Amino acid sequence: IDISSLRTSTDGVITLDPGFKNTGSCESAITFLDGEKGILHYRGYGIEELAEKAHFLEVVYLLIFGELPTEKELDKFHYDIQHQSIVDEDVKKILDAFPKSAHPMGVLCSLTSALTAFNPTSVDVRSEEAMYKSIVKILGKFPVLVAWTMRKKMGLPLNYGSTSLGYVENVLQMMFRQPNEEYTLNPIVVEALDKLLILHADHEQNCSTSTVRIAGSSHAGLFVSLASGISALWGPLHGGANQAVIEMLEAIKADGGDTKKFMAKAKDKNDPFRLMGFGHRVYKNFDPRAKIIKKAADEVLADLGIEDPILEIAKGLEKEALEDPYFVERKLYPNVDFYSGIIYRALGIPTEMFTVMFALGRLPGWIAQWREMRLNKEPIGRPRQIYIGETLRPFIPVEKR
Ligand code: ACO
Repeated sequence: IDISSLRTSTDGVITLDPGFKNTGSCESAITFLDGEKGILHYRGYGIEELAEKAHFLEVVYLLIFGELPTEKELDKFHYDIQHQSIVDEDVKKILDAFPKSAHPMGVLCSLTSALTAFNPTSVDVRSEEAMYKSIVKILGKFPVLVAWTMRKKMGLPLNYGSTSLGYVENVLQMMFRQPNEEYTLNPIVVEALDKLLILHADHEQNCSTSTVRIAGSSHAGLFVSLASGISALWGPLHGGANQAVIEMLEAIKADGGDTKKFMAKAKDKNDPFRLMGFGHRVYKNFDPRAKIIKKAADEVLADLGIEDPILEIAKGLEKEALEDPYFVERKLYPNVDFYSGIIYRALGIPTEMFTVMFALGRLPGWIAQWREMRLNKEPIGRPRQIYIGETLRPFIPVEKR
């Protein structure tokens, strides 16, 4: 399609498509998905193969720049990121001002946005070189913000990273290293987190990614565009579902484990309760990520020797839903977040941090989509509407109303 030919006046014709169920907003070469067949590819590589064979940082590079990096390219990319990982000490003052009870997603969003003030040149993306600088800056600083957000919540002193560690290893040690203690990385934990981050890394024009693209289309800076995406991700119908799933499974357990009762609630149209972690706007067969995550949850729990009763509740719920006409007719299957929380829990990550971990995984996807949007010189995003309000009427002064 010649996009420029579509940039003409609408001549008064407007498509009404609430929720953009059938409206494409852009052309993209990043992620391919087929919801009917349950297929997901990043830049032409199957998600199953990437989750099994690639490391997260390779996938970050692939999504953003379009090709898997050579060893040399990957080393340089990692070096550039590591050397941009210092966060201005004054950012700690902003973090200090938040109450401990603040939700980590709110804190992460504010700190990401604040980074623009501390790195004013990051908004200059007129050349590819300047764009690259902004990209490696945020890839370096974002994991620090993630770790600080969690440590603030847990009342721990703030850590910095180490240039001798890999990207994912570094995140873990920044999050979990205790004061005056060596932190020994557990390879099972590293591998599990690496896989989870890969599975979350991009998902074409989902709610948060569309938000990043539309915010960035006004030529707002990269960091604030990402902050908009973090806000959109926070909601329980999107990324917030991973926290909501665990809370739901805990509630079922606390209630005696009667999954049927909660299934009935989910089907009751007078009850706003939904089965969290079920259903997807695009996948109407199965979510390929959920298949991989379910298997990984089993393996991680077994490898770490953890018995988590909520895994059994989750499996029971899935089995019932797969046989229930309500869920079958509506094609509601477990999505990526149904089992991810069980893994995060096994890795020792607090429940309120789950969506922050999703944001860490989705960061490269948001960046890739934002970069593509800028390089394609896409026009400002500005949907239309069908006006259904009052027609023109005379103003009545306040004393006469
Ligand atoms: N539990 C019970 N019923 C559901 C659920 C659910 N989880 N999801 C959808 N339905 C029902 C709806 O009530 C509706 O029923 P109706 O046809 O009788 O009115 C029908 O299925 C279609 O649902 P919609 O809301 O129209 O589907 P939509 O594509 O707009 O929403 C969404 C998709 C938001 C993911 C939805 O399935 C949902 O709320 N799921 C629970 C939250 C969740 O897990 N979100 C994470 C999604 S994955 C991600 O963002 C990473």
